Amino acid sequence: MAEDEKPVPAGMTAEDISKEFKEHSVAEFFKKNMQMLGLTGKIKALTTIVHEYMSNSLDACEEAHILPDIEVQINEIGNEQYEVIVKDNGPGLTEETVGKAFGKLLAGTKFHRMIQMRGQQGIGSSGCTMLSQMTTGKPTQVITGTSKGPPISVEVTIDPKNNAPKVDNLVILKKEFKGTAVKAKFKGVKFVNSESSPLEYLRRTAIANPHAKITFIDPAGTKTVFDRTSKQIPARPTEIQPHPRGVSVDDVMTLSKTTKSKKIASFLREEFDRVGDKAIEEITKHVSFDLNKDPHQLQWDEAEEIVAQFKKIEFLAPRTDGLRPIGEERVQKSLKSIVEPEFLEVATRKPQVYAGGFPFQIEVALAYGGNAGRMSTDKDEEGQSVRKIEIMRFANNVPLLFDTGGCAITKAVQSVDWKRYGMRDIENAPLTIFVNLISVHVPYTSAGKQALSDEEAIMEELRLSLMEVGRKMFRYIGFRKREEEKQKKRKLFYKYATEVAIGLAELTGKKKEEIEAKLHDIVLRHLKLEEAQEAKQQQKGSELSEEEVEKEYQKRVQKEEKEKAKKKKKLTVQEE
Ligand SMILES: Nc1ncnc2c1ncn2[C@@H]1O[C@H](COP(=O)(O)OP(=O)(O)OP(=O)(O)O)[C@@H](O)[C@H]1O
Ligand SMILES: [Mg+2]
Repeated sequence: MAEDEKPVPAGMTAEDISKEFKEHSVAEFFKKNMQMLGLTGKIKALTTIVHEYMSNSLDACEEAHILPDIEVQINEIGNEQYEVIVKDNGPGLTEETVGKAFGKLLAGTKFHRMIQMRGQQGIGSSGCTMLSQMTTGKPTQVITGTSKGPPISVEVTIDPKNNAPKVDNLVILKKEFKGTAVKAKFKGVKFVNSESSPLEYLRRTAIANPHAKITFIDPAGTKTVFDRTSKQIPARPTEIQPHPRGVSVDDVMTLSKTTKSKKIASFLREEFDRVGDKAIEEITKHVSFDLNKDPHQLQWDEAEEIVAQFKKIEFLAPRTDGLRPIGEERVQKSLKSIVEPEFLEVATRKPQVYAGGFPFQIEVALAYGGNAGRMSTDKDEEGQSVRKIEIMRFANNVPLLFDTGGCAITKAVQSVDWKRYGMRDIENAPLTIFVNLISVHVPYTSAGKQALSDEEAIMEELRLSLMEVGRKMFRYIGFRKREEEKQKKRKLFYKYATEVAIGLAELTGKKKEEIEAKLHDIVLRHLKLEEAQEAKQQQKGSELSEEEVEKEYQKRVQKEEKEKAKKKKKLTVQEE
């Protein structure tokens, strides 16, 4: 039978669709889409697991105002099978919440708050519980102790159908313990010591969290301790309210249902940032309903009217005082201790606001030389391994190791013309670029939280911050180049001084050593004079403006072109 003569199977009827129609929970959805949580890929999954537990521990310690002391251990228990243990000294979890914290997706203490925290979605630790039970069939063990009562141990699993936690084997422990320790097994993951390994993740975590002590024991039993370089507990970030400029009608409706305010006027004043008496007066004048009305009775049309007024009124810019940068001094100390660079420049920019009315702030650092940059397999002329550029991306002090290309930070680094700042070949420079974006709501590109979206205001501020430290580095690179030239000159002078001394000794009959010593004196005096002149120039101002950088850059380009032309001319003459 010809293909087009075959009977066409009957199509689905509405009744068939009705029979097929099923509901599924958020847990079932993520179970099918673990890649969305960054929990796929053998190496990536293991680092993401460490990242989820680690950020929760740091968040918990920060909220409880405790200096974090966190231990991470990874044990190999079979082929591509590992056990991950993360233990913190945080506030712990109560018996009632421990199940929900580790066994219910989209549940937690952070999603509904506009606050600078590492977690924001409520799927990190529960995602790990899910992966563990999906790959090993085993529960996740959580031991937790609070300031009240003895610590407990429980085993948590998720019932995916209902996205509900199942808590078993509750044991009350005799040993004293305050904090949370989680132990989970995973199959189909792999520990490799690479640039995206848990060790690198923890090294970067230590850099951005100088107040934390982090201990890591890898599968080979090797212990690495990142000790804290600051004993000061960072001030707790404070929660901010949504700015009227960034809210939607739906946001207003949602907030109106849960407010404690009795009147719409006080609801607007209390639940939104920067809404004062003047704004209320304006809104009262232009809306069709009474602002003394109960906000719980607010209708969609009325909320639309409010949002329309929000768009017209000139509000003060959103509050930014809830943000807590790491701080220049701490970033300096931490990078010095972990990266040990020759040159280091750190800058903390002023807070800004991106679309939606979310405040954010950029911290940036450039570290050059020493252990800055990443080791590559390329070798230099002397056979030494060459260090290449390393971009350390962070959001709310959490390292971002994956999805590099899609991240606003990478794009901003690539968009800067580094040649202007003396870096001719940025890819092959021993350079670490550190960028931390802090915000009450980090605009991640996906639930895996590995890359920042390139919001216009964020891109602009990233570029400006990189250029700011770039300008400072420009002076250092210039200084380094002059130093190298000086060393070359000195070597050359000394070489000739010896030869000249031999000649002069023969001509004058005087001792060669005496002449040589005098010539060395002359060379030293000459070099010192040059140094004094340079010092004077350095004092002119510690930082060049963008225009001065441009001028210097153009001068350099012209000089290089002249030299090139000269060389070319020389070669043509030789060829002739
Ligand atoms: N080590 C811990 N100590 C105290 N509380 C914790 C700890 N780990 C998790 N929690 C609690 O469990 C909640 C759920 O954690 P989970 O990682 O799933 O989500 P999140 O941290 O809120 O957001 P994200 O999905 O972005 O990580 C947290 O909000 C926190 O309240
Ligand atoms: Mg989390």
